[in-house]
Amino acid sequence: MKRLAVFASGTGSNFQALVGAAASNDLQAEIALLVCDNLNAPVLEKAKQVGVPVFAFNPKEFDSKAEFEVSILEQLQFYNIDLIVLAGYMRLVGTTLLEAYPNKIINIHPSLLPSFPGKDAIGQAIRSGVKITGVTIHYVDQGMDTGPIIAQKAIAIEKDDTLSDVEAKIHQVEHSFYPEIIGKLVNRRFESETSVN
Ligand code: GRF
Repeated sequence: MKRLAVFASGTGSNFQALVGAAASNDLQAEIALLVCDNLNAPVLEKAKQVGVPVFAFNPKEFDSKAEFEVSILEQLQFYNIDLIVLAGYMRLVGTTLLEAYPNKIINIHPSLLPSFPGKDAIGQAIRSGVKITGVTIHYVDQGMDTGPIIAQKAIAIEKDDTLSDVEAKIHQVEHSFYPEIIGKLVNRRFESETSVN
């Protein structure tokens, strides 16, 4: 069974959904490690509760991204990680990890990329006035939400929707869509640029 590392910086609702999917065998993979760059993130408590090993670090204690990514890489190798799944990891991935895991790092982003990359994607979509937004799962490259798209799902923004209404719809979709697509990728041996929808 493939071994996944989830990278997260905050709440960890997607982490929790992935752990649930792994437990019910929907994921056909094991969540073997949580990597977290925020020592105060709520996701840390969630990992503790379900017994997933954690590598948490403070980036400010390292001189550079390359340095903390070398530490991450040591952990990934120690835990025999096959695939890296970003779930709210608020940081660009650097060359150390990209070169060590080519086409084996994916991300979920709360918009229909290439629209609304970067931070506050849901707020950006609402302010722009679009009536349809959604969720994108994509391979990670050196850019900000620019890697090849694997799968997307659309969500309607209704006239009276607030930011939290749209956030709730997006999260609900993410929590089943990410496990579903990861399950398909794992079965296809995670070949590069394979669109699965
Ligand atoms: C998700 O909306 C994901 O699309 C984005 O960050 C958010 C993380 O939420 N990249 P959570 O920490 O999984 O609750």
